[in-house]
Amino acid sequence: MTAPAEFTRLAAEIAREAGEMLLAKRPARPEVVQTKSSPTDVVTALDRAAEELIRARVREVRPDDAILGEEGGATGEGAVRWIVDPIDGTVNFVYGLPDWAVSIAVEVDGEIVAGVVNVVPRGEVFSASLGGGAWLGGERLRCNTGVPLSGALVATGFGYQVGRRTVQGEVLAKVLPHVRDVRRAGSAAADLCAVAAGRVDAYYERGPQYWDYAAGGLVATEAGARLGGMRGRPVGPDMTLCAAPGLFEELHDLLAGFDPERDE
Ligand code: IPD
Repeated sequence: MTAPAEFTRLAAEIAREAGEMLLAKRPARPEVVQTKSSPTDVVTALDRAAEELIRARVREVRPDDAILGEEGGATGEGAVRWIVDPIDGTVNFVYGLPDWAVSIAVEVDGEIVAGVVNVVPRGEVFSASLGGGAWLGGERLRCNTGVPLSGALVATGFGYQVGRRTVQGEVLAKVLPHVRDVRRAGSAAADLCAVAAGRVDAYYERGPQYWDYAAGGLVATEAGARLGGMRGRPVGPDMTLCAAPGLFEELHDLLAGFDPERDE
């Protein structure tokens, strides 16, 4: 059986190669080739090219594994599944902002055992193996602990649909008076790694898909954070909430009062 650390090593190698390709091929203003859930939910040719590269590399080394990719959907069957977001933060990629990432996680029998988030423009490769800790290069990561809600720097994000973001704006306006401040960087994967690295204290967002949070979620939990949804439910597209345990509960309880899992 392949050890989690070996999956992490392979995922990091592939995420680095995809990142190098994206940096080398990114034009001054990448062209949007398709829109998805709304006119602002964009795909570039390089999202597709990066996912194809990642799929090809996985097939070379692990031909029997399944793959779930943001652009190419689900392929293959088997106990081992790779969860791929070739560019998390595509809008940042288009605009030339630095928070976009190649995100690759590996699941064995439904459990995530390896996660790598390569925040390419920053040259930062975050990684984690189940039980093996979270790392940024050679530095072991620990999320901030003991931060009260009133002192918390909270990252969040918004969906692409008008009704959803209208509610997200309302909820955020109610959260803001209770926390230190808020940040919206533009990549859920990078936001979760920011929790792991103590660059923010918490992250919440309604909407991220499995490929957005699979790898970053493991990085955050291996750094000591709690990852989940509302009211004891697991993390999922309804809600991604992540912070050190005490703050998780405080932020959860604040959010719960604002009914954050609705869309207009
Ligand atoms: C998006 C980013 C963004 C988050 C959105 C995601 P994409 O992923 O992670 O930060 O707010 O919910 O959809 O579309 O760039 O892969």
